[in-house]
Amino acid sequence: MKKNNHLSPSLPWTTPFIILSILTVHSIKITSAACHVDDEKGLLAFKSGITQDPSGMLSSWKSGTDCCNWAGINCRENNRVTTISLYGQVDKPDSYLTGTISSSLAKVQNLDGIYFVNLRNISGPFPDLLFGLPKLLYVYIENSKLSGPLPVNIGKLKQLGALSLEGNRFTGSIPSSISELTQLTQLVLGKNEFSGHFPAGIKQIRNLSYLSLEQNKLMGTIPDIFKSFTDLRILRLSHNEFSGKIPESILSLAPKLAYLELGHNRLSGQIPSYLGKFKALDTLDLSWNSFTGVVPKTFSNLTKIFNLDLSHNSLNDPFPQMNVKGIESLDLSYNNFHLKVIPKWVTSSPIIYSLKLAKCGIKMNLDTWKPAETYFYDYIDLSENEITGSPADLLNRTDFLVEFKAARNKLKFDLGKLRIVKTLKELYIPRNLVYGKVPAAITGFNKLNMSYNHLCGQLPKNKFPVSSFVGNDCLCGPPLSPCKL
Ligand SMILES: *[C@@H]1O[C@H](CO)[C@@H](O)[C@H](O)[C@H]1NC(C)=O
Ligand SMILES: *[C@@H]1O[C@H](CO)[C@@H](O)[C@H](O)[C@H]1NC(C)=O
Ligand SMILES: *[C@@H]1O[C@H](CO)[C@@H](O)[C@H](O)[C@H]1NC(C)=O
Ligand SMILES: *[C@@H]1O[C@H](CO)[C@@H](O)[C@H](O)[C@H]1NC(C)=O
Ligand SMILES: *[C@@H]1O[C@H](CO)[C@@H](O)[C@H](O)[C@H]1NC(C)=O
Repeated sequence: MKKNNHLSPSLPWTTPFIILSILTVHSIKITSAACHVDDEKGLLAFKSGITQDPSGMLSSWKSGTDCCNWAGINCRENNRVTTISLYGQVDKPDSYLTGTISSSLAKVQNLDGIYFVNLRNISGPFPDLLFGLPKLLYVYIENSKLSGPLPVNIGKLKQLGALSLEGNRFTGSIPSSISELTQLTQLVLGKNEFSGHFPAGIKQIRNLSYLSLEQNKLMGTIPDIFKSFTDLRILRLSHNEFSGKIPESILSLAPKLAYLELGHNRLSGQIPSYLGKFKALDTLDLSWNSFTGVVPKTFSNLTKIFNLDLSHNSLNDPFPQMNVKGIESLDLSYNNFHLKVIPKWVTSSPIIYSLKLAKCGIKMNLDTWKPAETYFYDYIDLSENEITGSPADLLNRTDFLVEFKAARNKLKFDLGKLRIVKTLKELYIPRNLVYGKVPAAITGFNKLNMSYNHLCGQLPKNKFPVSSFVGNDCLCGPPLSPCKL
């Protein structure tokens, strides 16, 4: 469900490229002569380094058959193997490979693309054999268990056009020689365990369109190097330990930048008003930092923003009037805002799926809130406001809601009469004025808290602790004390 009619934030625009290359594999397969003997040797050596292949990804890789016809292999020019594309399927538990990458893969001399994506259990160090492949352009070794440091001379892979090692266990600092990879358009090192600083030399990789260092342990300031990029669309630096201010040169990425993700760091200072110039901005994540001051008025010019997360900072009123036609996800929780009501530009969004406005100083009656479209809602968090009335109408209009949170408000409604959609997995409504009986539907929830309300009667079968139910008028049954007959 969800994820509406535009580029999904979790799938960057690398995806079309990868899909394209899969299509290529199938469309220009050459069936005549058998593959080059060195290629066959190299690929079979790779296969012998794999100790578990429960889904049979490599089952067509058999000695004496044309390796150009093996699954995941693409040949061009004189039947030489040019790409290997092995993709684990995330939704299939047995779609993985265990083993290491054999150094004999270097025998496949014409390789220009290596795509080992979601293979999950490939281990070992950085594959040094890459240095022996002179035509290599694209390397995507994502979501596996490669570990150890990157080689200090990684800059020798000068011809590379894209390098993604996302989702492995690489450690140590990012070698400064990375700045010699000047042909890169994509450098994706997120979701590893890199430490040390953001290498300022990255500014020499002027053609980068996608840079991700997110989810590592990088520290220090974000260097002021962004003037040198002419085409950067995606900048992901979230979940590190970066401190200091947003560097001024980020301004020069306007208006092309589409994703700016700086959440979960230790950044401080004010949100620069020039961010309003990012007319193509799709996603802005500044959450979980120490930003202060107001949200600049210029934000009203962010008309294409779909995902805005400013939560967990120390931002003050007034919040600007936005001119966005359809926000998809919004989180302004835990700042110093006093919004009074849910903003109009939120209420009118036809595509919103996530709304989080906890502790935003909202004082409205929920019965008077008439959102234009509720079909896409997955997540709602209105906790710690002064909201009165009932969510019954709202919840009656959602078809796929997963989470509803409204702790510490003044909601007053009969829980027993609430329509609860099958998709709901979390109901978090402690410290309200909720009355009535607890519905049987809670049995299937993952998280529940309805403590400190006015509920009564026997609890349905459930797996929740006492603290999910305490402080009500007359609830009984496990985990509370037995009901009196
Ligand atoms: C992953 O690989 C390790 C060895 O590196 C092995 O012990 C483990 O069983 C593998 N995991 C799965 C799910 O097969
Ligand atoms: C960047 O791309 C342009 C145009 O594709 C190309 O001419 C130039 O050589 C590239 N720059 C670098 C540093 O590779
Ligand atoms: C929005 O952009 C327009 C055109 O670039 C500019 O004239 C206007 O001042 C901007 N509005 C705000 C509030 O910054
Ligand atoms: C939900 O909506 C239906 C009609 O759309 C209505 O009949 C029903 O009473 C509503 N239930 C609640 C709990 O509001
Ligand atoms: C439920 O909420 C109460 C009150 O906020 C809190 O004390 C308790 O720890 C919570 N319990 C659970 C299981 O979330």
